[in-house]
Amino acid sequence: MCGIVGYIGHRQAYNVIINGLKRLEYRGYDSAGICVLNGSSQLFKCKGKVSDLENHIKGKPLEGTIGIGHTRWATHGEPNDVNAHPHVSMNGIFTLIHNGIIENYSQLKTKLENRGYKFTSETDTEVLVNLIEYIYEKGNVTAEIAVRLALTKVVGAYGLAILCHNEPNTLIAARKGSPLVIGVGEDEYFVASDATPIVEYTNSVIYLNDNDVAVIKRGELTLKTIYNESLQPNIQTLDLDIEEIEKGGFDHFMLKEIFEQPRSIHDTFRGRISPHLDEIHLGGLYHVLPRLIEAKRIIIIGCGTSWHAGLVGEYLLEELARVPVEVEYASEFRYRNPIIYKDDVVIAISQSGETADTLAAIRLARKAGALVLGICNVVGASIPRETDAGVYTHAGPEIGVASTKAFTAQVTILTMIALLLGWRKGYLSPEKYKELIKEITLVPEKIEKILGSNDKVIKIAEIFSKTTNFLYLGRGYFFPVALEGALKLKEISYIHAEGYPAAEMKHGPIALIDEKMPVVVIAAKDGSYEKVVSNVQEVKARKGVVISIVTEGDTLIREMSDYVLEIPKAHEIVESLLAVVPLQLLAYHIALMRGCNVDQPRNLAKSVTVE
Ligand code: G6P
Repeated sequence: MCGIVGYIGHRQAYNVIINGLKRLEYRGYDSAGICVLNGSSQLFKCKGKVSDLENHIKGKPLEGTIGIGHTRWATHGEPNDVNAHPHVSMNGIFTLIHNGIIENYSQLKTKLENRGYKFTSETDTEVLVNLIEYIYEKGNVTAEIAVRLALTKVVGAYGLAILCHNEPNTLIAARKGSPLVIGVGEDEYFVASDATPIVEYTNSVIYLNDNDVAVIKRGELTLKTIYNESLQPNIQTLDLDIEEIEKGGFDHFMLKEIFEQPRSIHDTFRGRISPHLDEIHLGGLYHVLPRLIEAKRIIIIGCGTSWHAGLVGEYLLEELARVPVEVEYASEFRYRNPIIYKDDVVIAISQSGETADTLAAIRLARKAGALVLGICNVVGASIPRETDAGVYTHAGPEIGVASTKAFTAQVTILTMIALLLGWRKGYLSPEKYKELIKEITLVPEKIEKILGSNDKVIKIAEIFSKTTNFLYLGRGYFFPVALEGALKLKEISYIHAEGYPAAEMKHGPIALIDEKMPVVVIAAKDGSYEKVVSNVQEVKARKGVVISIVTEGDTLIREMSDYVLEIPKAHEIVESLLAVVPLQLLAYHIALMRGCNVDQPRNLAKSVTVE
């Protein structure tokens, strides 16, 4: 949530910052702003996207080699020009951009108001910038000390980049709860919410930890905690290609990421399955495997699409490894005083590795003594750094706000974990183990085939692009797929869509069905196929319009359906990976036909670093 870019060096800061903000727009796009120092401060900000900011600035060149920029996902205060970042302190000494929430902002604001401070915006950020200025002036201290002292008074989360107009060759960055990465170049430094704005300039990065403050002067970086303890910067090498964060000829990142799935899934299992298909190696779990095998219970936590992947994981782990699994929304789990045993294993699933609720939930689980594992996509993010062990999905950067390839990568990892445990616990014969491993390796080419039916999906999308409601039904492994299909549609097309277990339909949603209600039924051949046939009949009996996802060659459901999309034959443990793809495409095309911004749907952000 909210994207931050800062630069100090020999380049024109404006270009670095605007390009960086465009890369970070997936984090929020309610408003954008920039400040570049060059003798005086040049600050522009406005409601809307980074392109609106560029239009706003046109003809007013921002010269200077130090600056900060922000793209906002609003928390405190509606998206408008005034609430946009950067925020400037009352006496104009500090300019600041912020990602996160200052929870005690109203107490701090009252104190500052009592000391004569006036506020123009409704944001918590303006309180922080004024607190820093107040300490700076009152204490007659340096900018660094004022920032550190102010941050000791703050409750909440922040990623910050700060300029002080009295110290025009200093850029200060600080982190607690919200991610920040520093890029280290030749006599230049970059600050950003993630590495995507940095990768085209340098692959040397420092990931800030909570309570870290980086004071960057030209050609010199000092790292401390907010309590003034010196730290040794840990410079790491970034493994990210610039091509991976470009659209590569596709109209949208979402479409590119849907079409990347054969490759991304291959990257997820590559090197982790032996050439003879008789072993799964998950190096990240190696030293915790005995404890995982012994686990009496596995708790999977996640949010959004990652939670849906967790539900597929529940079915897989219970089926193959015979271990009880609970799947929890991180936001519910962390606040309801959950019972966590020392011999529980908690698996946190997160594409970004930064989701605030998931991060808080794993801290809780670790405190309770559980073994905490992560399944994350972004290397070096907070969740992988705060878990005992884990597996990266290696799906490559996912930029479209609606998650697609991250979901299939997460499910691929969960399938491998379930198979590995099932094998090690003796529930799978060597033949069965091998047969099921092979099923994973066949998924990429099967998805390739599904992607070949894109035109068919477009035709169906044309018919339903004006619809206002959708129902998605599935049983077993396809129930989470139904949830995910419905989520994709509502996220990007703003059509109301509900995912439901097919058998539960008769306990409520069946009342909604009439000739205007499209019902997407995931009805591929699996253990519950016969039951789904009955559910489709129930829909048809009420004149519902059925769009079914069936296995190639199916005739029974095809005859009952109004529209049909096929997926290749596969074992049911990998079928969710296949069935979700046509639903991703359907949501994409419907959203496009409705004129929606597919990559940046309204009100959403990709990385939710607020609670
Ligand atoms: C946001 C995104 C979703 C994502 C969810 C969890 O809501 O828009 O696409 O599924 O956060 O994110 P995570 O990074 O933890 O998987």
